[in-house]
Formats: sequence, C-alpha cells, structure tokens
Amino acid sequence: MKILGIETSCDETAAAVVENGTQLLSNVVASQMEIHAQYGGVVPEIAARHHIDTIQPVIHRALTEASCTWDDIDAIAVTYGPGLIGSLLVGTLTARTLAAVHTKPLYPVNHVVAHMYANWLVDPAPALPALALIVSGGHTQLVLIKDHEQHILLGQTQDDAVGEAFDKVAKVIGLPYPGGPSITKAAVHGDPKAFTFTKPKTANPLDFSFSGLKTAVLRAAQKAAGGDHTLPSYEVAARLTAQQKHDLAASFQATAVAILIDRLRLANDEYSPASILIAGGVAANSSLREAIKYHFGDRAHYAPMALCTDNAAMIAAYGYFYAQSNKPTPYTEVTTEPSLSM
Ligand code: KG4
Ligand code: ZN
Repeated sequence: MKILGIETSCDETAAAVVENGTQLLSNVVASQMEIHAQYGGVVPEIAARHHIDTIQPVIHRALTEASCTWDDIDAIAVTYGPGLIGSLLVGTLTARTLAAVHTKPLYPVNHVVAHMYANWLVDPAPALPALALIVSGGHTQLVLIKDHEQHILLGQTQDDAVGEAFDKVAKVIGLPYPGGPSITKAAVHGDPKAFTFTKPKTANPLDFSFSGLKTAVLRAAQKAAGGDHTLPSYEVAARLTAQQKHDLAASFQATAVAILIDRLRLANDEYSPASILIAGGVAANSSLREAIKYHFGDRAHYAPMALCTDNAAMIAAYGYFYAQSNKPTPYTEVTTEPSLSM
C-alpha cells in the first residue's frame, strides 16, 4: 500500500511517498527556515502564504522522485493538527481536493503521534510495546505504544517544551535561530560542568518542566555578563565572551538531556518496554542520541536527523498503520484542529 503523506503544520511544506508504513520512496521538504530566521521565530501568516506557493510543486516532486503516478497511490494521509491554523488549512484543503479529484481514501493524522512513526522507516523497526519520548518545539511527551491503536500518555511537560527551551536559551546567549542545532554546535566547545543547573521535581515523576531551567540559564548568563536579574535579556549576549556562551550552551544541554534520560529510565523500570525510541526535532540532538544508546543499547531507536524534524514521511508511515484499523474520513469532513492533543 503506497501512501502519499502531506505535512504543513508549521513552517515546513512537505510531501512523501511511503510503502507499507516502512519503505521510504520519496521525502521532499521545503523549509522556510531562512525566511523566519530574520524574525527570530515562525511568523504564522508568512508561513501559510509560503505553503500555498510551494505545496503543489512539493507534492509533484514527491510523486516524481518515488516514480509514481496518481494510479500508484492507494491513499493520502495529511496532518490535521496540532499546529498553526493557517498552515494546517493549506495542507488539509490540498489533501481534500486531491482526494476528491483522484478518488483516493483520505486519512487525517495527528502530527505529534506521527513523529514517533519516523522510527518505523528505519530497519529494524522498534518492537512493541515501545516507550517513546516525543521532543519537539511544541511538545515533550512520554508515551507507551502498546500497539498501533493504543498510545498511552505517561507524562508531559507542565510548562515549556524542551525544544522551546533550546530556542529561548539560544536567543539569550546570542546564537542563531533555530536554537537546537545552534546550541549543539556551541556545546562542542564548552564545558558541561562549567555551570550547575538543578533538575526540576514534578508531582508525577514522569512529567517534565523546563521553564525553571530556562530561567536558571538566564540568571547564570546575566551573572556571567557582569549584571544581575535586572539586566535585560536582550543585552546579555553582547556582554558574554565566546567561551562563556559555549559553556552555558554545554551546561544547559547536559541538564536538559539528563532530565529527559531520568524520565526514560524511570519509565523503563516501570514498564519494561521491548524498545525505546525518541522522536521530534530535539531527537536530532547528538548528545541525546548518544545518551539513549548508552543507557538502552540495542533497544534504543532513533531515525536519521532529517526524519526527526518535521517531514511528511512520518505522516505517510503513521497513515499506513492508522489505515489498518480505521476507515478513511470523507474528504468533506476533514477539518483542522490547531490544539489537537493525543
Ligand atoms: O519537530 P520539529 O521539527 O517541529 C515541531 O513540531 O515543533 O521540532 C523543532 C524543534 C525546535 O525547537 C528546534 O530547536 C529543535 O527541534 N531542534 C533541536 C535540534 N534540531 C532541532 N534541538 C536540539 N538539538 C538539535 N540538534
Ligand atoms: Zn513536529
């Protein structure tokens, strides 16, 4: 079964063709990163407008690169939430139109759940039950995948997502957007023990919290810059040396990864999963990847970096597993759900 996946929930316009949920035939991502970088974050109206301009050529390329015509496509899967409403609308309306014109079954899927399914595009696929850590710019969730229909939420962030913390810390210490990759690069030259940040306690030990860590890094950066808590955050970076920035990046990253690993180890002890996987943009972080390999060995899974950040291959992969036990949605009934939860 060949599924065309379509993803437009944020600032990536993406289309991909995946066979049987596991075989990647094409994966096209048009990133708007450079456009939004000049504003220091995603501007929703600009994102939606760019999706309109690029969606058709992106889908055309995904079909061409998979050597497929519409006759070869068995179904369409599209992200219907969560995400930016204007961006989601472009993807869902495009998918609805294509499903109607080419008479294809249409499966609307949850973007956050789909992130986990990037791991099914890698051989060997994770064995079930699997413990999954979804870490992105908008989400930090610990999930038990019992089977492809049962995704049980074990814990989630009580405030900021971990990717958001990477992005905000990067901004304070003057590293370019997006913060995740910038922090990783800077951390290579820094000492992870230069600054000590405490790990948060949460009522549910499998929940997360990152706002305290974010503030602690800001306070440490203000102090290193020779000021106190009254020094405006936008003045901090200019007063830091390159080494101080590297040390702050390394110390923050080490603490963030330790918080994530602590939760994984706790849930691993409690649920004894057959495999452990990470997903979402922050799963591209090399330090987190090394840590899960170190702690969980062969049971640890992660996808190539390009499949961790937003893409449509994960949408098509999850679309396949979803289609095994769900009916397609009539195209007129596919809506967008910007705040869709699990
Ligand atoms: O999954 P994603 O592409 O979009 C969302 O659904 O949010 O995740 C984007 C997030 C951003 O916060 C970005 O800074 C972070 O993933 N990220 C990273 C790395 N690459 C991307 N965080 C840490 N280390 C990285 N190498
Ligand atoms: Zn995402």
